Amino acid sequence: MRIGIIGAGHIGSTLARHFTRVGYDVAVSNSRGPRSLDGLVAELGPRAQALTPEEAARFGEVVVVSIPFGRWHELPSAELSRKVVIDTSNYLPERDGHERDLDQDTITSSQKIRAHTGGNVVKAFNALPWQDLRDGSRPKGAPDRLAVALSGSDEDGKAVVAGLVRDIGFDPVDAGNLGRGGRRHQPGTQVFGRKLPKDEMSEIFHAVRR
Ligand SMILES: NC(=O)c1ccc[n+]([C@@H]2O[C@H](COP(=O)([O-])OP(=O)(O)OC[C@H]3O[C@@H](n4cnc5c(N)ncnc54)[C@H](OP(=O)(O)O)[C@@H]3O)[C@@H](O)[C@H]2O)c1
Repeated sequence: MRIGIIGAGHIGSTLARHFTRVGYDVAVSNSRGPRSLDGLVAELGPRAQALTPEEAARFGEVVVVSIPFGRWHELPSAELSRKVVIDTSNYLPERDGHERDLDQDTITSSQKIRAHTGGNVVKAFNALPWQDLRDGSRPKGAPDRLAVALSGSDEDGKAVVAGLVRDIGFDPVDAGNLGRGGRRHQPGTQVFGRKLPKDEMSEIFHAVRR
């Protein structure tokens, strides 16, 4: 599978390392241009290349969006429509600036990215600190394998992303759709920032549903 990555910082580059390690072809991108990613591409090896965000979106069958949320309006919407889009971002007003609809919780940050891009957005990899994403990969069945929360409103899109989560050594846990589900693993929730096994994360999501 080909994976495009928009935003090659802590999370985007960590995912690029995992995806190339397990055999996927990856195109990384940022706002400063492909040449600024020469070092990362050299480290990632022959399965990796650097492109512009538009090109990375076209390249990927799945496209990871991993930028500071406040820059969502810069995402290449035409190229992301009809793609499975993995949104790792979190709305942090102190970093991103305030957005009234998010402050009033009339919409979620991932729903805003879906509205802007028209993509099949699955929120994932947003709740685990990047160091735990870097170091936490474990084989299937390992007792200390970590859970990765995901949410989305399309079952097929979620299944694709759940497969990628498993492939790189984590257990996916479905939080629900992009609205209610997304709100279950945003900043401030019980699972956010925590290293949890899948059973414990599932139990938390079930308790919130009750
Ligand atoms: N750090 C964590 O532990 C963590 C954990 C889970 C989720 N998250 C969330 O995931 C997202 C990324 O976090 P991060 O820590 O990886 O951030 P980061 O290290 O600051 O990296 C952000 C990346 O996005 C690029 N970028 C910024 N604006 C862009 C644009 N308009 N188009 C393309 N690329 C752009 C930046 O490169 P240029 O500036 O060169 O463009 C950089 O490569 C954030 O929303 C964050 O809240 C972070």
